[in-house]
Amino acid sequence: MEFKKVAVLGAGTMGLGIAQVMAQSGYDVVLYEIDKAIADKAVVKIGKLAARNIEKGKAPEGSDKIILSRIKTTANLQDVADCDLVIEAIIENMEIKKKVYQQLDVTCKPETILASNSSSLSLTEIAAATARPQQVVGMHFFNPAQVMQLVEVIPALQTSEEVVQAIMELCVKTGKKPIRVKEGPGFVVNRILIPGMNEAAFILQEGLATVEDIDTAMKLGANWPMGPFALCDLVGADVTLAICDTLYNETGDPKYRASSVLKNQVRAGYLGKKTGRGFYNYN
Ligand code: CAA
Repeated sequence: MEFKKVAVLGAGTMGLGIAQVMAQSGYDVVLYEIDKAIADKAVVKIGKLAARNIEKGKAPEGSDKIILSRIKTTANLQDVADCDLVIEAIIENMEIKKKVYQQLDVTCKPETILASNSSSLSLTEIAAATARPQQVVGMHFFNPAQVMQLVEVIPALQTSEEVVQAIMELCVKTGKKPIRVKEGPGFVVNRILIPGMNEAAFILQEGLATVEDIDTAMKLGANWPMGPFALCDLVGADVTLAICDTLYNETGDPKYRASSVLKNQVRAGYLGKKTGRGFYNYN
């Protein structure tokens, strides 16, 4: 199984990062968004990040142009038809995802593998929405995808072993460290990380310490690279809450219930960096 042309669906934070990783690794990339202008904007950002790598001496002169030449943007799903792999990084909504996978199923060539960057939804359910469930697999990157080395590879119940191995090998080729994880809510990282971030919000809710002090506590007391609130702002309060809710709904365990502080951040639209305001202000 050889990959040459890769589609990335969704040009949000994760899609942008994944597209850059793939293009940097020599793959031709089709970046799909419903609104092409969003994909075009993402490509401009990729260009800037790639140029910064050259300035820092981490990439050769001209590599930004090569990377950009490998990425094509589109708002037409038909343009991903001949891709060997589709990495889907769209909104975390099962109904929307199922519709998109059904469209991909009829659009893509029969060999195309469909990988989902979903952080918590059931791959088995997504796979079951297609006529090629053996070719559907989880490929979970971490934010910022250009920097974070891990990829969780999650076989659905139906995924073939050949597909799992091909994705594990692809991760290595792109400089990532894949780990294989059986399907379960939150997989490994989010099962540990998200309750930690939610617990920080409960600590805030109880008035035990300020946002800044809780972040300082985890940075200096536990060597986290960033505190839980800064991390929530990076990941997005909406994404954090959605994962929390999945952990709670899938297990029924009250230890995973979301804090009111987290819910209110989402209700207010204080989602983090992407909206300019979260627990911190970015304007
Ligand atoms: N995009 C691309 N590159 C970025 C970036 C971004 N958004 N943010 C930082 N970087 C790069 C910088 O350019 C820099 O690159 P060089 O080493 O080549 O100079 C490098 O990352 C380090 O950045 P900084 O020096 O600016 O800052 P830092 O040392 O504090 O690192 C960080 C920033 C990598 C984000 C670090 O704080 C960190 O690791 N934070 C934790 C991130 C984390 O836990 N991510 C997982 C979230 S959970 C998730 O994503 C899963 C999910 O499903 C929700």
